[in-house]
Amino acid sequence: MKPTERISRKEFLKTTGTLTAGALVTPALVKGASFGWQGKKTRVGIIGCGSVSNAYFPHLSECPYAEIVSACDIIYEKAVAQAKRFNVPNTYPHIDQMLAGAPFDLLVNLTDMQEHGRLNKIGLEAGKHVWSEKPLANHVPEGRELLALAEKKGLRIWGAPVVVNSPQFAFMSKAIQEGKLGKVAAAHAHYGHRGPTWSAFFYERGGGSMPDLGVYNLGTLTGLLGPARYVTAMTSIVTPTRKTDNKGEIKVEAEDNAMVLMDHGNGIISHVQSGFNYFDPYGHTGTGQDHPTVMVWGTKGNMGLIGYDWAPFGVDLATLDHEEPVRYEKDAKGYVWQEGASLVAEALATGKETLVTARHSLHVLEIIEAARKSGETGERVKIETTFKWPVV
Ligand SMILES: NC(=O)c1ccc[n+]([C@@H]2O[C@H](COP(=O)([O-])OP(=O)(O)OC[C@H]3O[C@@H](n4cnc5c(N)ncnc54)[C@H](O)[C@@H]3O)[C@@H](O)[C@H]2O)c1
Repeated sequence: MKPTERISRKEFLKTTGTLTAGALVTPALVKGASFGWQGKKTRVGIIGCGSVSNAYFPHLSECPYAEIVSACDIIYEKAVAQAKRFNVPNTYPHIDQMLAGAPFDLLVNLTDMQEHGRLNKIGLEAGKHVWSEKPLANHVPEGRELLALAEKKGLRIWGAPVVVNSPQFAFMSKAIQEGKLGKVAAAHAHYGHRGPTWSAFFYERGGGSMPDLGVYNLGTLTGLLGPARYVTAMTSIVTPTRKTDNKGEIKVEAEDNAMVLMDHGNGIISHVQSGFNYFDPYGHTGTGQDHPTVMVWGTKGNMGLIGYDWAPFGVDLATLDHEEPVRYEKDAKGYVWQEGASLVAEALATGKETLVTARHSLHVLEIIEAARKSGETGERVKIETTFKWPVV
């Protein structure tokens, strides 16, 4: 696609949501029978019917383990419009009304980032399992509280992204664990674009490029290299005001440019950069991209993930005994970034465990919080949370 023909992410989601719903479903989702699936579907209530919902509704609609029962948005017309498009029987303008309405099992939270912690808590308190878009909560104590609440009530909570689910991540994780790179030393990952235009929350307090974009790379690198022990970062605001569709001209309060250094222990250091001021010649879909956005180096080899980690196209591996890089895992095998809610609907219906975990999401949230602090104070910040690793 020529740069002039590129479409915005919003338009892309509208298009993919309308045209390719079937193609978005993960083949892995039809294997549930082997986990003793009795045919009972997970009933889903979706809250937040904005841009990203254009990717979730079609995926969940095609998921054999899910049944979308309700759609809710404080801008009620949006809930009604998505319900009409995807044959959802119930619509609500407020979470309280949705919780008091048609019964469901799983709350899928696709609202503004700043609303996640609050709404996820209301959902858990009402006895619902929760799948949340990133971030899972708005700060670490709130995240810890949500995990404790879920445990106390015998419920599950999960948060996006699901980058650890791609075959490319699996290949890289296995290669590291098998010692193909020798002793791992360093890694880098980056993701950025020119910033969303449709909603102001991306630039308001609690928003920023790290929870919206860096979160993918932070999930990938901690997933590959292990939990971070210390974080140092520099953050800045490059564009102090923005024009947004919903609030017009706004002052940018959250970082729109971040460089995060992580110490993973055992001498391994990695770096993630994210921003809302990156011209990206491959557009929001990343189609046609032939360069790695994630690199891992070791004493005997290096590896590059081609394309973005949320939409990967392959892994290039070069080793001491085969210096010419070879491209592996050229197929996503059905993996798509918007599959998270369907995967957890499957987990709830069949008992099949997921690779993505709330503890990993909480860890990434702590890294983001630490990076904000380090950016302000120059401190090297110790990380307390951890998660089950390796992720294989
Ligand atoms: N848009 C994308 O391409 C994309 C991709 C991946 C992840 N995400 C994530 O998805 C989330 C939503 O992003 P978006 O781009 O869809 O934003 P959006 O502004 O398009 O949609 C958010 C929707 O949530 C609704 N909402 C807000 N507070 C609510 C409340 N209390 N109750 C009910 N509804 C409420 C808003 O009215 C709006 O319709 C964010 O966490 C974002 O990081 C977005």
